[in-house]
Amino acid sequence: MVRLGEVGSTNDVARALADAGVPEGAVVVADVQTQGRGRLGRVWLSPQGGLWCSMLLRPPARSAWGRLSLAVGVAASEAIEATVPLRTGIRWPNDVVLGERKACGILIEGAGGAVVVGIGINVNVPVEKMPQEVAARATSLHLAAGHPVDRETVLRALLDRFARWHGLWTAGDDAVLEAWRRRDVTRRTRVVVDGPGPRVEGIAEGVDDDGALRVRLDSGVIQRVVAGDLTRLSVPGDC
Ligand code: BTN
Repeated sequence: MVRLGEVGSTNDVARALADAGVPEGAVVVADVQTQGRGRLGRVWLSPQGGLWCSMLLRPPARSAWGRLSLAVGVAASEAIEATVPLRTGIRWPNDVVLGERKACGILIEGAGGAVVVGIGINVNVPVEKMPQEVAARATSLHLAAGHPVDRETVLRALLDRFARWHGLWTAGDDAVLEAWRRRDVTRRTRVVVDGPGPRVEGIAEGVDDDGALRVRLDSGVIQRVVAGDLTRLSVPGDC
């Protein structure tokens, strides 16, 4: 494991390890990221107190990345629940949430033939002091549990759960999909998805086998969405 104090992005360090031929399984953890990245090219604020880590994988060519993303979401969700007595959910594509607020984000990037899985968990991050647009949508384990949480315990749980779900993903086991679906907080709610493509609004109908979101438009047509940011417009039971 590579442990760093301040770094640009742990995903970049993991990518450099990939370029240097380091084998699968390398893990990079930093205390602070000055250039943390989120999905869709966004900035990921990464001050002291969070768990910012990246793992290097070398999956066979043409592996199912969509499902890998689901496996990582399930692992992160379980790791949080193993550490604090709170119930997490997953909001498509792979935000781990406590209630409506995001506690963990996942960024999976290709690195030549390798894959870098970046995971950011707001363990003790003072989200309430962050810019309003972040504070309104995010939470930390500390804030939600009401006490500081040991970052090392979260890291150990994450590596443990990831090992299990990565194995199942590698084996093509449908358990990944089933576990993700059980944690899906968006199914049968009205959602809007903003992303690289045109805005999509309708009722979320869960995910396809490849991790794409199925949205039933008001016309009744089912549209598959492969990337974007989802906001729930209703709560389960409304639709
Ligand atoms: C998102 O939800 O937008 C994804 C956030 C991913 C953040 C993690 S923190 C560790 C790794 N390094 C980065 O620069 N990003 C990921």
